[in-house]
Amino acid sequence: MTKWAIVGDIHSNLEALDSVIADAQRNGATKFACIGDLVGYGPDPNEVVERVIELGMVCVMGNHEHFVLGREGASLLHPVPALLVEWTKSELTESSRKYIESLAYVDSAHDFLLTHSSLSAPNKFHYCLYPEDVHREFFEKNGEANTKVMPYDGKLGFMGHTHEVAIYKASAYAEDQVRMVINPNELHLNTGWAYVVNIGAVGQPRDGEPKASYVIYDNIKRTVEFYRVPYDIQTTQAKMEAKGLPSQLIARLAKGI
Ligand SMILES: [Fe+2]
Repeated sequence: MTKWAIVGDIHSNLEALDSVIADAQRNGATKFACIGDLVGYGPDPNEVVERVIELGMVCVMGNHEHFVLGREGASLLHPVPALLVEWTKSELTESSRKYIESLAYVDSAHDFLLTHSSLSAPNKFHYCLYPEDVHREFFEKNGEANTKVMPYDGKLGFMGHTHEVAIYKASAYAEDQVRMVINPNELHLNTGWAYVVNIGAVGQPRDGEPKASYVIYDNIKRTVEFYRVPYDIQTTQAKMEAKGLPSQLIARLAKGI
């Protein structure tokens, strides 16, 4: 049996990540996977990357890594994230940079898929909020080989990017319909359906609940369990203040927005 803890949108928040790791290990997780955005916004980019490496996390690239590596100009972002991209660039050690450079946009080496926000265009980072977004980014056949399309046979995909928990499901019997699963505590995966789970954010939740978010996938029971974990927000905020990071980023952590 393997219990996978799936984490993401850590955003250089070491206190949130360490609280999640401890909680996941208490809940029996022995492996970790990450949907990207290790860096950006928070004060500890290198420490977060080191922790991810230490735990041997399976990890894919988020938009913040993509921008920090200069694959697109940060001028495309809003001013505050753009500022944090530049700050993070100046903070990253060579080994952290090498690690994020090694990340792929999609990982399918296990019995689930990992991507930051899309299978069909994983380096474009479109937001998936509504079922039609998930249909477009995960299920729509676009005339190319179907390798970029999610199969329906009980397949499971994890994503993040919006920093809000959500579950979507689709079946081969109604190919154009992606449905949202409302308010689950535990998801049972049934054959004949495909599931896309947005795991929420470790380091900067935006659903009004400041606690760090992650899930545990049990590959024998075929369940996904959803967790929220308190962490020492004040320490993270004090570090951000000491490093001169923008006050709006400091304030939002306590509000979960
Ligand atoms: Fe993010």
